[in-house]
Amino acid sequence: MGTSLDRRAVKDAQRATWDALSAGWAEAQEVFERGAGLVTGRLLDLGDVRPGQTVLDVGTGLGEPALTAARRVGRTGRVVATDISPEMLRIARRRAGGLGDVAANIEFVEADVEAQGLSPGAFDVVLSRWGLMFAVDHVAAFAGLRRLLRPGGVLAAAVWGPAEDAPVMALGFASLSASLDLPPAPPDAPGPFSMTDPDVLTCELEAAGFSGVSVLETRVPFAFDSVGAFVAFTRAVTPPFLLDRIRERHGSPDAREAWRAVEAAAARFRTGSGGLYIPSKALCVQASNPGDGG
Ligand SMILES: C[S@@+](CC[C@H](N)C(=O)[O-])C[C@H]1O[C@@H](n2cnc3c(N)ncnc32)[C@H](O)[C@@H]1O
Repeated sequence: MGTSLDRRAVKDAQRATWDALSAGWAEAQEVFERGAGLVTGRLLDLGDVRPGQTVLDVGTGLGEPALTAARRVGRTGRVVATDISPEMLRIARRRAGGLGDVAANIEFVEADVEAQGLSPGAFDVVLSRWGLMFAVDHVAAFAGLRRLLRPGGVLAAAVWGPAEDAPVMALGFASLSASLDLPPAPPDAPGPFSMTDPDVLTCELEAAGFSGVSVLETRVPFAFDSVGAFVAFTRAVTPPFLLDRIRERHGSPDAREAWRAVEAAAARFRTGSGGLYIPSKALCVQASNPGDGG
C-alpha cells in the first residue's frame, strides 16, 4: 500500500510537521488526555503489561502510553519509546524527567515506525497510541514490529476509526479544508485516517505474521469546556501546511473568518452546560507474535 510514494520525502515531511506541531500538542495535551487516557488504559490491558516487562511504545509523541507503561512495569521493567520527531521526544524526555524515579526505566529513541533499529525478540509488548497510521507500507511496518516481539509477545495499538466517526481529530481540519476549497487527503496516504477499516487492518496484521488478531471499536469520550476551547485545541494541533493555506487566503493563520467554520461545525456537539462532548472512534488492536521466526 502506498509504496509508490517517495518514502524519503514522506518521512522528511512527517518529521518536519511533527517537530512544528510539538509545541501545540504540548499546549493541547491536558485536554486531549482527558479522553485519550481511557485508550492508554485499554492498551495496557490488551497488552497485559506487567511489572518487570520490557515494553516498546511506537510513535510515543509527548510520551504516552510510554510513561503510563513505565509506572506499570516498575523498577524491574524497562520501556523504550520511539518517535520520528526529535522535538516531540525532547518534550517527552522533559516530562519523564519531571516524574523522577517513576520514569527512570524509560529511554527515548528517535526512530521511524518502519525502521525501529532495535533488537529482534527484545520486547514482551509493543504499544502504540495513534502512531501506526503514519507507516507508508502497513504490512511491512507490522512485520517489522512483530519481529521485535518475543514469541507470544503482544502488539496492543490504537488507530483512528473513519474520519466521520472521529470528529475530535477530523472535524476541525475538514471544516477548515472545506472553507479553503482544499480537496480531502487521499484515503491511503500515510496519516491519521489511513487505517480505519477493521477488516483491512486484521488482514494486514495477519499478512505480517500476527495471530489471534482482534480489533475492538472504542468510543473515546473527548470533552471540551466550550466551543472556544475546542477551536483552541484544533488551532494548536493544525498542521503547518493548513495554517499556510489560511494565511494565504486570509492574511493570517488566526483569521477569524477561517476559524468560524470550525466553530460552526463544532456547535452540534454542544452539551446543555455549554461544553462540548465529542466522542470519537478508535480501533484498539490486539495481536500476538506466534514466534515462527519469520
Ligand atoms: C497523533 S501523535 C500520537 C502521540 C502519542 N502516542 C499520543 O497518543 O499522544 C502521532 C505521533 O507519531 C509520530 N510519527 C509520525 N510519523 C511517524 C513515523 N513515520 N515514524 C514514527 N513516528 C511517527 C509523530 O511524531 C507523533 O509524535
